[in-house]
Amino acid sequence: MVENNLSPASITNTLGTSFVGQRVIYYPSLTSTMEVAKQEAQLGAVEGTVVIADEQTVGRGRIKRVWLSPKGSIALSIILYPSVVNLPYLIMLASLAVVHSIEAITGLRSQIKWPNDVLVNDRKVCGILIESSVRGNIVDYAIIGIGINVNLKLSDFPEIQSVATSLSDEQGRDVSRLRVIRRLLVEVERLYLALQAGGSIYEEWRDSLITLGRRVRVKSGKTVCEGIAESVARDGSLLLRHSDGNLSKIVAGDATLRD
Ligand code: BTN
Repeated sequence: MVENNLSPASITNTLGTSFVGQRVIYYPSLTSTMEVAKQEAQLGAVEGTVVIADEQTVGRGRIKRVWLSPKGSIALSIILYPSVVNLPYLIMLASLAVVHSIEAITGLRSQIKWPNDVLVNDRKVCGILIESSVRGNIVDYAIIGIGINVNLKLSDFPEIQSVATSLSDEQGRDVSRLRVIRRLLVEVERLYLALQAGGSIYEEWRDSLITLGRRVRVKSGKTVCEGIAESVARDGSLLLRHSDGNLSKIVAGDATLRD
Protein backbone atom coordinates (compact mmCIF):
# COMPACT_ATOMS: atom_id res chain seq x y z
CA MET A 1 0.00 0.00 0.00
CA VAL A 2 1.41 3.33 -1.07
CA GLU A 3 1.22 6.24 1.42
CA ASN A 4 -1.60 8.72 0.94
CA ASN A 5 -0.62 11.59 3.18
CA LEU A 6 -0.21 14.90 1.36
CA SER A 7 0.14 17.10 4.45
CA PRO A 8 2.23 20.26 3.99
CA ALA A 9 4.91 18.85 6.32
CA SER A 10 5.19 15.60 4.36
CA ILE A 11 5.81 17.63 1.21
CA THR A 12 8.10 20.29 2.65
CA ASN A 13 10.29 18.37 5.13
CA THR A 14 13.79 17.82 3.73
CA LEU A 15 12.55 18.81 0.26
CA GLY A 16 15.83 20.55 -0.50
CA THR A 17 14.41 23.46 -2.49
CA SER A 18 14.99 27.06 -1.50
CA PHE A 19 11.52 28.39 -2.33
CA VAL A 20 9.32 26.14 -4.50
CA GLY A 21 7.20 24.05 -2.12
CA GLN A 22 8.53 25.69 1.02
CA ARG A 23 5.00 26.94 1.70
CA VAL A 24 2.21 24.44 0.97
CA ILE A 25 -1.52 25.01 1.42
CA TYR A 26 -3.40 21.72 1.45
CA TYR A 27 -7.12 21.03 1.06
CA PRO A 28 -8.77 17.59 1.18
CA SER A 29 -11.29 18.88 -1.36
CA LEU A 30 -11.42 22.13 -3.31
CA THR A 31 -13.20 23.62 -6.32
CA SER A 32 -9.92 24.37 -8.13
CA THR A 33 -6.38 24.94 -6.87
CA MET A 34 -6.12 27.68 -9.53
CA GLU A 35 -8.77 29.75 -7.76
CA VAL A 36 -7.09 29.65 -4.35
CA ALA A 37 -3.63 30.18 -5.88
CA LYS A 38 -4.94 33.27 -7.67
CA GLN A 39 -6.33 34.69 -4.41
CA GLU A 40 -3.05 33.93 -2.67
CA ALA A 41 -1.01 35.54 -5.45
CA GLN A 42 -3.17 38.67 -5.34
CA LEU A 43 -2.42 38.85 -1.62
CA GLY A 44 1.31 38.66 -2.40
CA ALA A 45 2.01 35.04 -1.39
CA VAL A 46 5.67 34.16 -1.17
CA GLU A 47 7.11 32.88 -4.49
CA GLY A 48 6.94 29.09 -4.77
CA THR A 49 3.77 28.76 -2.68
CA VAL A 50 1.95 25.57 -3.62
CA VAL A 51 -1.80 25.02 -3.36
CA ILE A 52 -2.68 21.35 -3.42
CA ALA A 53 -5.92 19.37 -3.16
CA ASP A 54 -6.69 15.69 -2.77
CA GLU A 55 -9.60 16.21 -5.13
CA GLN A 56 -11.08 19.10 -7.08
CA THR A 57 -14.79 19.49 -7.65
CA VAL A 58 -14.54 22.05 -10.48
CA GLY A 59 -11.07 21.38 -11.92
CA ARG A 60 -10.24 23.68 -14.81
CA GLY A 61 -8.60 22.60 -18.06
CA ARG A 62 -7.24 24.60 -20.97
CA ILE A 63 -9.65 26.29 -23.38
CA LYS A 64 -12.38 26.40 -20.74
CA ARG A 65 -12.55 22.61 -20.53
CA VAL A 66 -13.36 20.68 -17.38
CA TRP A 67 -10.50 18.75 -15.75
CA LEU A 68 -11.40 15.57 -13.87
CA SER A 69 -9.51 15.48 -10.60
CA PRO A 70 -10.76 12.67 -8.40
CA LYS A 71 -8.98 11.29 -5.32
CA GLY A 72 -5.83 9.47 -6.35
CA SER A 73 -4.74 12.16 -8.78
CA ILE A 74 -2.37 15.08 -8.22
CA ALA A 75 -3.86 18.57 -8.48
CA LEU A 76 -1.58 21.44 -7.57
CA SER A 77 -0.83 25.04 -8.47
CA ILE A 78 2.50 26.83 -8.01
CA ILE A 79 2.76 30.62 -7.66
CA LEU A 80 5.70 32.29 -9.40
CA TYR A 81 6.71 35.86 -10.19
CA PRO A 82 8.75 35.53 -13.40
CA SER A 83 10.01 38.33 -15.60
CA VAL A 84 7.92 39.00 -18.70
CA VAL A 85 10.76 37.60 -20.82
CA ASN A 86 10.57 34.25 -19.05
CA LEU A 87 6.77 33.98 -19.05
CA PRO A 88 6.48 32.04 -22.35
CA TYR A 89 8.96 29.47 -21.07
CA LEU A 90 6.81 28.41 -18.12
CA ILE A 91 4.85 26.06 -20.41
CA MET A 92 8.09 24.38 -21.45
CA LEU A 93 9.44 24.34 -17.90
CA ALA A 94 6.31 22.74 -16.45
CA SER A 95 6.01 19.99 -19.03
CA LEU A 96 9.71 19.13 -18.81
CA ALA A 97 9.51 19.05 -15.00
CA VAL A 98 6.62 16.57 -15.26
CA VAL A 99 8.45 14.38 -17.80
CA HIS A 100 11.58 14.28 -15.61
CA SER A 101 9.61 13.51 -12.44
CA ILE A 102 7.55 10.71 -13.98
CA GLU A 103 10.69 9.08 -15.29
CA ALA A 104 12.60 9.50 -12.02
CA ILE A 105 9.86 8.00 -9.85
CA THR A 106 8.35 5.35 -12.14
CA GLY A 107 10.90 4.76 -14.89
CA LEU A 108 8.13 5.44 -17.45
CA ARG A 109 9.14 7.44 -20.53
CA SER A 110 6.71 10.21 -21.42
CA GLN A 111 6.42 12.67 -24.29
CA ILE A 112 4.97 16.13 -24.70
CA LYS A 113 2.17 16.84 -27.16
CA TRP A 114 2.28 20.50 -28.19
CA PRO A 115 1.87 22.68 -26.36
CA ASN A 116 2.02 20.93 -22.98
CA ASP A 117 0.09 17.69 -22.62
CA VAL A 118 2.22 14.91 -21.20
CA LEU A 119 1.54 11.47 -22.70
CA VAL A 120 2.58 7.97 -21.77
CA ASN A 121 2.14 5.42 -24.56
CA ASP A 122 0.20 8.02 -26.61
CA ARG A 123 -2.37 8.71 -23.89
CA LYS A 124 -2.61 11.79 -21.74
CA VAL A 125 -1.36 11.39 -18.19
CA CYS A 126 -0.96 15.06 -17.28
CA GLY A 127 -2.48 18.40 -18.17
CA ILE A 128 -0.91 21.79 -17.49
CA LEU A 129 -2.62 25.14 -17.26
CA ILE A 130 -0.74 28.43 -16.95
CA GLU A 131 -2.62 31.52 -15.82
CA SER A 132 -1.00 34.90 -15.36
CA SER A 133 -1.73 38.56 -14.77
CA VAL A 134 0.43 40.87 -16.85
CA ARG A 135 0.37 44.68 -17.09
CA GLY A 136 2.63 46.00 -19.81
CA ASN A 137 6.05 44.60 -18.98
CA ILE A 138 5.12 43.71 -15.42
CA VAL A 139 4.05 40.20 -14.49
CA ASP A 140 1.90 40.48 -11.36
CA TYR A 141 1.97 36.70 -10.99
CA ALA A 142 1.97 33.45 -12.91
CA ILE A 143 0.37 30.24 -11.73
CA ILE A 144 1.37 26.83 -13.04
CA GLY A 145 -1.46 24.34 -12.56
CA ILE A 146 -0.53 20.68 -12.92
CA GLY A 147 -2.91 17.73 -12.91
CA ILE A 148 -1.47 14.21 -13.06
CA ASN A 149 -3.46 11.00 -13.25
CA VAL A 150 -1.56 8.93 -10.70
CA ASN A 151 -3.64 6.24 -8.99
CA LEU A 152 -6.75 6.11 -11.16
CA LYS A 153 -8.32 3.18 -12.93
CA LEU A 154 -9.24 4.67 -16.29
CA SER A 155 -11.85 1.94 -16.69
CA ASP A 156 -13.78 3.88 -14.01
CA PHE A 157 -13.82 6.90 -16.37
CA PRO A 158 -15.13 5.58 -19.70
CA GLU A 159 -15.62 9.11 -21.05
CA ILE A 160 -11.85 9.68 -21.23
CA GLN A 161 -10.54 6.12 -21.30
CA SER A 162 -9.62 6.14 -25.00
CA VAL A 163 -7.44 9.25 -24.70
CA ALA A 164 -6.15 9.20 -21.11
CA THR A 165 -4.07 6.95 -18.91
CA SER A 166 -2.68 6.97 -15.37
CA LEU A 167 0.68 6.13 -13.86
CA SER A 168 -0.84 3.21 -11.94
CA ASP A 169 -2.53 1.80 -15.06
CA GLU A 170 0.79 2.00 -16.90
CA GLN A 171 2.78 0.48 -14.03
CA GLY A 172 0.27 -2.14 -12.93
CA ARG A 173 0.59 -0.94 -9.31
CA ASP A 174 0.00 2.18 -7.22
CA VAL A 175 2.54 4.98 -7.37
CA SER A 176 3.45 7.30 -4.47
CA ARG A 177 1.84 10.69 -5.14
CA LEU A 178 4.06 12.18 -2.47
CA ARG A 179 7.25 11.09 -4.22
CA VAL A 180 6.01 12.41 -7.57
CA ILE A 181 5.02 15.76 -6.03
CA ARG A 182 8.30 16.22 -4.15
CA ARG A 183 10.35 15.44 -7.26
CA LEU A 184 8.16 17.72 -9.34
CA LEU A 185 8.73 20.68 -7.02
CA VAL A 186 12.49 20.10 -7.08
CA GLU A 187 12.46 19.93 -10.90
CA VAL A 188 10.33 23.08 -11.23
CA GLU A 189 12.73 25.03 -9.04
CA ARG A 190 15.81 23.68 -10.82
CA LEU A 191 14.49 24.60 -14.28
CA TYR A 192 13.17 27.96 -13.11
CA LEU A 193 16.54 28.92 -11.61
CA ALA A 194 18.27 27.78 -14.81
CA LEU A 195 15.92 30.01 -16.80
CA GLN A 196 16.57 32.98 -14.53
CA ALA A 197 20.30 32.41 -14.93
CA GLY A 198 19.90 32.79 -18.71
CA GLY A 199 19.86 29.06 -19.57
CA SER A 200 17.69 27.74 -22.38
CA ILE A 201 15.13 24.98 -21.97
CA TYR A 202 13.64 25.46 -25.45
CA GLU A 203 15.84 22.83 -27.14
CA GLU A 204 15.02 20.07 -24.64
CA TRP A 205 11.30 20.90 -24.81
CA ARG A 206 11.37 20.88 -28.63
CA ASP A 207 13.18 17.53 -28.66
CA SER A 208 10.64 16.01 -26.24
CA LEU A 209 7.66 16.90 -28.47
CA ILE A 210 5.87 13.93 -29.97
CA THR A 211 4.13 16.34 -32.36
CA LEU A 212 6.94 17.37 -34.70
CA GLY A 213 6.99 15.77 -38.13
CA ARG A 214 3.45 14.45 -37.61
CA ARG A 215 0.18 15.35 -39.33
CA VAL A 216 -1.91 17.28 -36.82
CA ARG A 217 -5.22 19.06 -36.63
CA VAL A 218 -5.01 22.21 -34.54
CA LYS A 219 -8.00 23.97 -33.05
CA SER A 220 -7.22 27.54 -32.16
CA GLY A 221 -10.25 29.53 -31.03
CA LYS A 222 -12.87 28.94 -33.73
CA THR A 223 -10.26 28.12 -36.37
CA VAL A 224 -9.32 24.55 -37.21
CA CYS A 225 -6.41 23.79 -39.51
CA GLU A 226 -4.52 20.70 -40.53
CA GLY A 227 -0.98 20.15 -41.73
CA ILE A 228 2.42 18.82 -40.80
CA ALA A 229 3.83 20.13 -37.51
CA GLU A 230 7.16 21.28 -38.88
CA SER A 231 8.76 22.95 -35.91
CA VAL A 232 8.23 25.14 -32.88
CA ALA A 233 9.50 28.69 -32.46
CA ARG A 234 11.44 29.80 -29.39
CA ASP A 235 8.31 31.50 -28.05
CA GLY A 236 6.54 28.11 -28.05
CA SER A 237 4.40 28.70 -31.17
CA LEU A 238 3.77 25.78 -33.52
CA LEU A 239 4.88 26.10 -37.15
CA LEU A 240 2.37 24.22 -39.28
CA ARG A 241 2.99 23.43 -42.97
CA HIS A 242 -0.22 23.27 -45.00
CA SER A 243 -0.78 21.09 -48.05
CA ASP A 244 -0.51 24.20 -50.28
CA GLY A 245 3.00 24.80 -48.93
CA ASN A 246 2.09 27.77 -46.72
CA LEU A 247 3.41 27.93 -43.17
CA SER A 248 1.29 29.17 -40.23
CA LYS A 249 2.52 30.17 -36.82
CA ILE A 250 0.04 29.08 -34.18
CA VAL A 251 0.50 30.72 -30.81
CA ALA A 252 -2.06 28.71 -28.81
CA GLY A 253 -4.37 25.83 -29.52
CA ASP A 254 -5.15 22.20 -29.10
CA ALA A 255 -3.46 19.65 -31.36
CA THR A 256 -4.79 16.22 -32.33
CA LEU A 257 -2.39 13.75 -33.94
CA ARG A 258 -3.89 12.55 -37.24
CA ASP A 259 -1.49 9.76 -38.26
C1 BTN B 1 -5.53 20.70 -19.62
O1 BTN B 1 -4.89 19.76 -20.10
O2 BTN B 1 -6.58 21.08 -20.15
C2 BTN B 1 -5.00 21.39 -18.39
C3 BTN B 1 -5.43 20.71 -17.12
C4 BTN B 1 -4.88 21.38 -15.87
C5 BTN B 1 -5.39 20.74 -14.60
C6 BTN B 1 -4.75 21.29 -13.37
S1 BTN B 1 -5.13 20.34 -11.94
C7 BTN B 1 -4.44 21.56 -10.91
C8 BTN B 1 -4.88 22.88 -11.48
N1 BTN B 1 -6.22 23.22 -10.98
C9 BTN B 1 -7.12 23.24 -11.96
O3 BTN B 1 -8.32 23.52 -11.81
N2 BTN B 1 -6.54 22.97 -13.13
C10 BTN B 1 -5.11 22.71 -12.99
